[in-house]
Amino acid sequence: MNTKHVFGCQVADRRSRVAGCQVAWRWRETFCGLRPGAAIIHGRAGHADECAGARPVDRQPARAAVGCAGAAAGAMRPDRWNARNFGGLYPQLYALDHLTAGQVDGVERMLGLAPGTRILDVCCGYGRHALELGRRGYRHVVGVDVSRPLLARARRAARAEGLRVTFRQADMRRLPFRRSFDVALNLFTSFGYIADEAEDRAALRAMARALRPGGRLLMDLLNREWLVRHFQPRYRETTALGVVSNHLTFDLETGRLRNVRRFRKDGRPRSLAIEFRVYTLAEMVRMLREAGLAFQRAYGNFAGAAYGMDTFRMIIVASKPERRKSVRRYDRSAVR
Ligand SMILES: C[S@@+](CC[C@H](N)C(=O)[O-])C[C@H]1O[C@@H](n2cnc3c(N)ncnc32)[C@H](O)[C@@H]1O
Repeated sequence: MNTKHVFGCQVADRRSRVAGCQVAWRWRETFCGLRPGAAIIHGRAGHADECAGARPVDRQPARAAVGCAGAAAGAMRPDRWNARNFGGLYPQLYALDHLTAGQVDGVERMLGLAPGTRILDVCCGYGRHALELGRRGYRHVVGVDVSRPLLARARRAARAEGLRVTFRQADMRRLPFRRSFDVALNLFTSFGYIADEAEDRAALRAMARALRPGGRLLMDLLNREWLVRHFQPRYRETTALGVVSNHLTFDLETGRLRNVRRFRKDGRPRSLAIEFRVYTLAEMVRMLREAGLAFQRAYGNFAGAAYGMDTFRMIIVASKPERRKSVRRYDRSAVR
Protein backbone atom coordinates (compact mmCIF):
# COMPACT_ATOMS: atom_id res chain seq x y z
CA MET A 1 0.00 0.00 0.00
CA ASN A 2 1.41 3.37 -0.94
CA THR A 3 1.12 5.43 2.20
CA LYS A 4 1.24 8.62 0.16
CA HIS A 5 -2.26 7.85 -0.96
CA VAL A 6 -3.61 6.72 2.34
CA PHE A 7 -5.60 9.37 4.05
CA GLY A 8 -5.68 8.60 7.70
CA CYS A 9 -4.22 9.03 11.10
CA GLN A 10 -0.75 10.04 9.92
CA VAL A 11 -2.05 12.72 7.61
CA ALA A 12 -4.46 13.98 10.17
CA ASP A 13 -1.89 14.09 12.91
CA ARG A 14 0.10 16.43 10.73
CA ARG A 15 -2.95 18.49 9.92
CA SER A 16 -4.03 18.69 13.53
CA ARG A 17 -0.62 19.96 14.52
CA VAL A 18 -0.91 22.68 11.92
CA ALA A 19 -4.54 23.53 12.30
CA GLY A 20 -4.99 22.71 15.96
CA CYS A 21 -8.45 21.51 16.72
CA GLN A 22 -9.89 22.93 13.51
CA VAL A 23 -10.03 19.62 11.68
CA ALA A 24 -11.79 17.87 14.51
CA TRP A 25 -14.16 20.77 14.92
CA ARG A 26 -15.15 20.77 11.25
CA TRP A 27 -15.81 17.05 11.42
CA ARG A 28 -18.04 17.45 14.45
CA GLU A 29 -19.74 20.44 12.92
CA THR A 30 -20.62 18.41 9.87
CA PHE A 31 -22.32 15.78 11.93
CA CYS A 32 -23.74 17.80 14.73
CA GLY A 33 -23.50 21.40 13.66
CA LEU A 34 -26.22 23.77 12.73
CA ARG A 35 -27.75 22.08 9.72
CA PRO A 36 -27.82 18.33 10.15
CA GLY A 37 -26.91 18.53 13.80
CA ALA A 38 -29.90 20.65 14.69
CA ALA A 39 -32.15 17.81 13.71
CA ILE A 40 -30.21 15.32 15.74
CA ILE A 41 -30.04 17.46 18.81
CA HIS A 42 -33.81 17.47 18.87
CA GLY A 43 -33.93 13.82 17.86
CA ARG A 44 -36.19 14.51 14.88
CA ALA A 45 -36.83 11.44 12.81
CA GLY A 46 -36.05 11.59 9.13
CA HIS A 47 -32.99 13.76 9.53
CA ALA A 48 -31.35 11.50 11.97
CA ASP A 49 -29.61 9.52 9.28
CA GLU A 50 -27.54 12.62 8.41
CA CYS A 51 -25.86 12.16 11.69
CA ALA A 52 -26.46 8.51 12.28
CA GLY A 53 -25.40 7.41 15.67
CA ALA A 54 -24.17 10.79 16.78
CA ARG A 55 -24.58 11.64 20.41
CA PRO A 56 -26.41 14.91 20.62
CA VAL A 57 -25.50 15.44 24.24
CA ASP A 58 -21.74 15.13 24.06
CA ARG A 59 -21.50 16.22 20.42
CA GLN A 60 -19.61 13.13 19.42
CA PRO A 61 -19.10 12.62 15.70
CA ALA A 62 -21.26 10.02 14.11
CA ARG A 63 -20.24 6.41 14.39
CA ALA A 64 -21.91 5.81 11.08
CA ALA A 65 -19.25 8.01 9.58
CA VAL A 66 -17.67 4.74 8.70
CA GLY A 67 -20.91 3.37 7.45
CA CYS A 68 -20.78 1.04 10.37
CA ALA A 69 -20.86 -1.72 7.87
CA GLY A 70 -18.19 -3.85 6.55
CA ALA A 71 -16.15 -6.66 7.67
CA ALA A 72 -12.62 -7.10 8.67
CA ALA A 73 -10.28 -6.84 5.79
CA GLY A 74 -9.79 -9.23 2.99
CA ALA A 75 -7.69 -12.05 4.34
CA MET A 76 -10.21 -13.41 6.80
CA ARG A 77 -12.80 -15.85 5.42
CA PRO A 78 -16.19 -14.15 4.95
CA ASP A 79 -17.97 -16.42 7.45
CA ARG A 80 -15.25 -15.76 10.07
CA TRP A 81 -15.23 -12.01 9.65
CA ASN A 82 -18.98 -11.90 9.71
CA ALA A 83 -19.14 -13.92 12.88
CA ARG A 84 -16.64 -11.52 14.38
CA ASN A 85 -18.06 -8.22 13.18
CA PHE A 86 -21.73 -8.96 12.95
CA GLY A 87 -22.09 -11.31 15.87
CA GLY A 88 -23.59 -10.59 19.24
CA LEU A 89 -21.52 -7.44 19.80
CA TYR A 90 -22.90 -5.59 16.79
CA PRO A 91 -26.14 -4.37 18.41
CA GLN A 92 -24.14 -3.19 21.42
CA LEU A 93 -21.53 -1.38 19.37
CA TYR A 94 -24.08 0.30 17.14
CA ALA A 95 -27.20 1.56 18.84
CA LEU A 96 -29.30 2.22 15.77
CA ASP A 97 -32.87 1.76 16.83
CA HIS A 98 -33.56 5.47 17.24
CA LEU A 99 -32.85 5.91 13.50
CA THR A 100 -35.07 3.13 12.20
CA ALA A 101 -38.46 4.86 12.05
CA GLY A 102 -37.07 7.84 10.11
CA GLN A 103 -35.27 5.55 7.69
CA VAL A 104 -38.39 3.48 7.05
CA ASP A 105 -40.45 6.69 6.59
CA GLY A 106 -37.96 7.65 3.88
CA VAL A 107 -38.10 4.24 2.20
CA GLU A 108 -41.91 4.43 2.13
CA ARG A 109 -41.87 7.89 0.58
CA MET A 110 -39.13 7.19 -1.96
CA LEU A 111 -40.64 3.92 -3.17
CA GLY A 112 -44.35 4.57 -2.56
CA LEU A 113 -44.93 1.21 -0.87
CA ALA A 114 -48.37 -0.41 -0.59
CA PRO A 115 -49.41 -3.06 2.00
CA GLY A 116 -49.12 -5.80 -0.62
CA THR A 117 -45.62 -4.81 -1.80
CA ARG A 118 -43.27 -7.78 -1.58
CA ILE A 119 -40.15 -6.47 0.16
CA LEU A 120 -36.72 -8.06 0.49
CA ASP A 121 -34.32 -6.56 3.03
CA VAL A 122 -30.84 -7.66 1.94
CA CYS A 123 -28.32 -7.67 4.82
CA CYS A 124 -31.11 -7.09 7.30
CA GLY A 125 -28.88 -7.47 10.38
CA TYR A 126 -31.08 -7.92 13.45
CA GLY A 127 -34.06 -7.00 11.34
CA ARG A 128 -34.76 -3.49 12.57
CA HIS A 129 -36.10 -2.26 9.19
CA ALA A 130 -37.90 -5.50 8.27
CA LEU A 131 -39.58 -5.62 11.68
CA GLU A 132 -40.61 -1.97 11.42
CA LEU A 133 -42.12 -2.65 8.00
CA GLY A 134 -44.01 -5.59 9.54
CA ARG A 135 -45.31 -3.33 12.29
CA ARG A 136 -46.54 -0.90 9.65
CA GLY A 137 -48.68 -3.58 8.06
CA TYR A 138 -46.56 -4.77 5.12
CA ARG A 139 -47.54 -8.38 4.73
CA HIS A 140 -44.71 -9.76 2.59
CA VAL A 141 -41.39 -8.87 4.15
CA VAL A 142 -38.35 -11.12 4.03
CA GLY A 143 -35.02 -10.27 5.65
CA VAL A 144 -31.80 -12.05 4.66
CA ASP A 145 -28.39 -11.92 6.27
CA VAL A 146 -25.44 -14.21 6.82
CA SER A 147 -25.14 -13.61 10.54
CA ARG A 148 -26.81 -16.35 12.57
CA PRO A 149 -26.84 -14.46 15.89
CA LEU A 150 -28.38 -11.38 14.28
CA LEU A 151 -31.00 -13.47 12.47
CA ALA A 152 -31.81 -15.33 15.69
CA ARG A 153 -32.39 -12.02 17.43
CA ALA A 154 -34.58 -10.80 14.54
CA ARG A 155 -36.71 -13.98 14.67
CA ARG A 156 -37.13 -13.68 18.43
CA ALA A 157 -38.34 -10.10 18.03
CA ALA A 158 -40.79 -11.08 15.26
CA ARG A 159 -42.20 -13.89 17.44
CA ALA A 160 -42.47 -11.70 20.50
CA GLU A 161 -44.42 -9.07 18.56
CA GLY A 162 -46.46 -11.55 16.54
CA LEU A 163 -45.15 -10.17 13.24
CA ARG A 164 -45.26 -12.18 10.05
CA VAL A 165 -41.80 -11.19 8.88
CA THR A 166 -39.61 -13.99 7.59
CA PHE A 167 -35.86 -14.14 8.17
CA ARG A 168 -33.56 -16.38 6.16
CA GLN A 169 -29.88 -16.97 6.18
CA ALA A 170 -28.41 -16.19 2.77
CA ASP A 171 -25.33 -14.63 1.27
CA MET A 172 -26.12 -11.47 -0.65
CA ARG A 173 -24.09 -12.81 -3.60
CA ARG A 174 -26.23 -15.92 -3.87
CA LEU A 175 -29.75 -14.93 -2.99
CA PRO A 176 -32.17 -17.84 -3.44
CA PHE A 177 -34.84 -15.76 -5.19
CA ARG A 178 -35.94 -15.21 -8.79
CA ARG A 179 -38.32 -12.39 -9.68
CA SER A 180 -39.93 -12.74 -6.28
CA PHE A 181 -39.96 -9.17 -4.97
CA ASP A 182 -41.29 -5.76 -5.94
CA VAL A 183 -38.68 -3.99 -3.85
CA ALA A 184 -35.21 -4.86 -2.54
CA LEU A 185 -33.59 -2.80 0.21
CA ASN A 186 -29.94 -2.67 1.13
CA LEU A 187 -29.64 -0.32 4.07
CA PHE A 188 -27.00 1.28 6.23
CA THR A 189 -23.92 0.74 4.09
CA SER A 190 -24.40 -2.99 3.75
CA PHE A 191 -22.32 -3.21 0.60
CA GLY A 192 -18.66 -3.32 -0.32
CA TYR A 193 -17.18 -5.41 2.47
CA ILE A 194 -15.63 -8.08 0.34
CA ALA A 195 -12.15 -7.24 -0.87
CA ASP A 196 -12.90 -8.41 -4.43
CA GLU A 197 -15.10 -5.94 -6.30
CA ALA A 198 -16.32 -8.73 -8.56
CA GLU A 199 -18.16 -10.00 -5.47
CA ASP A 200 -19.96 -6.69 -5.12
CA ARG A 201 -21.04 -6.97 -8.74
CA ALA A 202 -22.28 -10.50 -8.02
CA ALA A 203 -24.31 -9.15 -5.11
CA LEU A 204 -25.91 -6.52 -7.38
CA ARG A 205 -26.77 -9.17 -9.94
CA ALA A 206 -28.31 -11.35 -7.22
CA MET A 207 -30.45 -8.44 -6.00
CA ALA A 208 -31.49 -7.69 -9.58
CA ARG A 209 -32.47 -11.35 -10.09
CA ALA A 210 -34.57 -11.31 -6.93
CA LEU A 211 -36.68 -8.44 -8.34
CA ARG A 212 -39.62 -8.84 -10.67
CA PRO A 213 -39.39 -6.85 -13.92
CA GLY A 214 -40.29 -3.28 -12.99
CA GLY A 215 -39.16 -3.86 -9.39
CA ARG A 216 -36.92 -1.39 -7.60
CA LEU A 217 -33.76 -1.49 -5.50
CA LEU A 218 -32.95 1.10 -2.84
CA MET A 219 -29.40 1.24 -1.50
CA ASP A 220 -28.36 3.45 1.39
CA LEU A 221 -24.61 4.04 1.28
CA LEU A 222 -21.99 6.31 2.79
CA ASN A 223 -21.33 9.22 0.41
CA ARG A 224 -17.74 9.00 -0.77
CA GLU A 225 -17.62 12.71 -1.70
CA TRP A 226 -18.67 13.64 1.81
CA LEU A 227 -16.10 11.27 3.26
CA VAL A 228 -13.14 12.84 1.48
CA ARG A 229 -14.33 16.38 2.19
CA HIS A 230 -14.89 15.80 5.88
CA PHE A 231 -12.53 13.01 6.74
CA GLN A 232 -11.66 12.75 10.40
CA PRO A 233 -9.17 10.03 11.29
CA ARG A 234 -9.96 9.72 14.96
CA TYR A 235 -12.97 10.09 17.14
CA ARG A 236 -14.43 8.62 20.27
CA GLU A 237 -17.98 7.73 21.05
CA THR A 238 -19.98 6.26 23.85
CA THR A 239 -21.81 3.01 23.19
CA ALA A 240 -23.52 0.35 25.27
CA LEU A 241 -20.03 -1.13 25.72
CA GLY A 242 -18.60 2.14 27.01
CA VAL A 243 -16.20 4.46 25.21
CA VAL A 244 -15.08 3.24 21.78
CA SER A 245 -12.17 4.93 20.05
CA ASN A 246 -12.20 4.87 16.26
CA HIS A 247 -9.05 5.07 14.11
CA LEU A 248 -9.80 5.51 10.44
CA THR A 249 -7.76 5.31 7.26
CA PHE A 250 -9.03 5.82 3.75
CA ASP A 251 -6.99 4.36 0.92
CA LEU A 252 -7.40 6.59 -2.12
CA GLU A 253 -6.02 3.94 -4.45
CA THR A 254 -8.42 1.18 -3.50
CA GLY A 255 -11.29 3.33 -2.24
CA ARG A 256 -11.41 1.25 0.92
CA LEU A 257 -12.17 2.75 4.29
CA ARG A 258 -10.84 1.01 7.37
CA ASN A 259 -11.82 1.69 10.92
CA VAL A 260 -10.16 0.05 13.88
CA ARG A 261 -12.49 0.31 16.84
CA ARG A 262 -10.99 -0.13 20.28
CA PHE A 263 -13.02 -0.70 23.42
CA ARG A 264 -13.10 -2.76 26.60
CA LYS A 265 -15.30 -5.76 27.16
CA ASP A 266 -15.49 -7.41 30.56
CA GLY A 267 -12.51 -5.31 31.60
CA ARG A 268 -10.32 -6.57 28.74
CA PRO A 269 -9.17 -4.48 25.77
CA ARG A 270 -10.77 -5.55 22.48
CA SER A 271 -10.63 -4.25 18.95
CA LEU A 272 -12.56 -4.80 15.74
CA ALA A 273 -11.29 -3.82 12.32
CA ILE A 274 -13.99 -2.88 9.90
CA GLU A 275 -13.25 -2.26 6.26
CA PHE A 276 -15.28 -1.67 3.15
CA ARG A 277 -15.15 -0.17 -0.32
CA VAL A 278 -16.71 3.26 -0.67
CA TYR A 279 -18.08 3.68 -4.19
CA THR A 280 -18.77 6.94 -5.98
CA LEU A 281 -22.15 7.57 -7.54
CA ALA A 282 -20.62 7.23 -11.02
CA GLU A 283 -19.22 3.81 -10.11
CA MET A 284 -22.53 2.68 -8.68
CA VAL A 285 -24.47 3.83 -11.74
CA ARG A 286 -22.14 1.81 -13.96
CA MET A 287 -22.23 -1.28 -11.75
CA LEU A 288 -26.01 -1.16 -11.51
CA ARG A 289 -26.23 -0.95 -15.30
CA GLU A 290 -23.94 -3.95 -15.63
CA ALA A 291 -26.22 -5.84 -13.23
CA GLY A 292 -29.25 -5.06 -15.42
CA LEU A 293 -30.63 -2.22 -13.30
CA ALA A 294 -31.31 1.35 -14.37
CA PHE A 295 -30.27 4.15 -12.05
CA GLN A 296 -33.27 6.37 -11.30
CA ARG A 297 -32.32 8.82 -8.60
CA ALA A 298 -30.01 9.62 -5.71
CA TYR A 299 -31.00 11.26 -2.43
CA GLY A 300 -28.80 12.75 0.26
CA ASN A 301 -30.83 11.59 3.24
CA PHE A 302 -34.02 9.79 4.17
CA ALA A 303 -35.91 13.07 4.37
CA GLY A 304 -35.52 13.22 0.58
CA ALA A 305 -32.86 15.95 0.26
CA ALA A 306 -31.08 16.03 -3.08
CA TYR A 307 -27.82 14.10 -3.19
CA GLY A 308 -24.69 16.26 -3.33
CA MET A 309 -21.06 16.46 -2.29
CA ASP A 310 -21.97 17.47 1.21
CA THR A 311 -24.65 14.94 2.01
CA PHE A 312 -23.58 12.28 4.43
CA ARG A 313 -25.60 9.54 2.73
CA MET A 314 -25.95 8.43 -0.86
CA ILE A 315 -29.34 6.77 -1.22
CA ILE A 316 -29.76 5.26 -4.65
CA VAL A 317 -32.97 4.11 -6.29
CA ALA A 318 -32.64 1.87 -9.33
CA SER A 319 -35.18 -0.13 -11.29
CA LYS A 320 -35.27 -3.38 -13.17
CA PRO A 321 -36.61 -2.81 -16.68
CA GLU A 322 -40.03 -4.18 -17.48
CA ARG A 323 -39.91 -7.38 -19.46
CA ARG A 324 -39.45 -6.52 -23.10
CA LYS A 325 -42.10 -7.81 -25.46
CA SER A 326 -40.48 -10.28 -27.81
CA VAL A 327 -39.94 -8.48 -31.08
CA ARG A 328 -39.75 -10.60 -34.18
CA ARG A 329 -36.78 -9.51 -36.21
CA TYR A 330 -38.47 -10.24 -39.50
CA ASP A 331 -42.22 -10.18 -39.71
CA ARG A 332 -43.21 -12.14 -42.79
CA SER A 333 -46.74 -10.77 -42.78
CA ALA A 334 -45.39 -7.26 -43.31
CA VAL A 335 -43.98 -8.14 -46.73
CA ARG A 336 -46.79 -10.27 -47.99
C1 LIG B 1 -23.95 -2.56 8.78
S1 LIG B 1 -24.86 -3.99 9.00
C2 LIG B 1 -26.44 -3.37 8.56
C3 LIG B 1 -27.55 -4.23 9.01
C4 LIG B 1 -28.93 -3.67 8.78
N1 LIG B 1 -29.18 -3.37 7.39
C5 LIG B 1 -29.14 -2.42 9.62
O1 LIG B 1 -29.28 -1.34 9.08
O2 LIG B 1 -29.16 -2.56 10.84
C6 LIG B 1 -24.38 -5.01 7.62
C7 LIG B 1 -25.01 -6.38 7.62
O3 LIG B 1 -24.58 -7.06 6.45
C8 LIG B 1 -24.48 -8.45 6.75
N2 LIG B 1 -23.63 -9.08 5.73
C9 LIG B 1 -22.32 -8.91 5.54
N3 LIG B 1 -21.89 -9.62 4.50
C10 LIG B 1 -22.97 -10.26 4.00
C11 LIG B 1 -23.17 -11.14 2.89
N4 LIG B 1 -22.16 -11.51 2.11
N5 LIG B 1 -24.41 -11.59 2.66
C12 LIG B 1 -25.44 -11.24 3.48
N6 LIG B 1 -25.30 -10.40 4.54
C13 LIG B 1 -24.08 -9.92 4.80
C14 LIG B 1 -23.90 -8.47 8.12
O4 LIG B 1 -24.10 -9.69 8.77
C15 LIG B 1 -24.64 -7.29 8.76
O5 LIG B 1 -25.80 -7.71 9.40
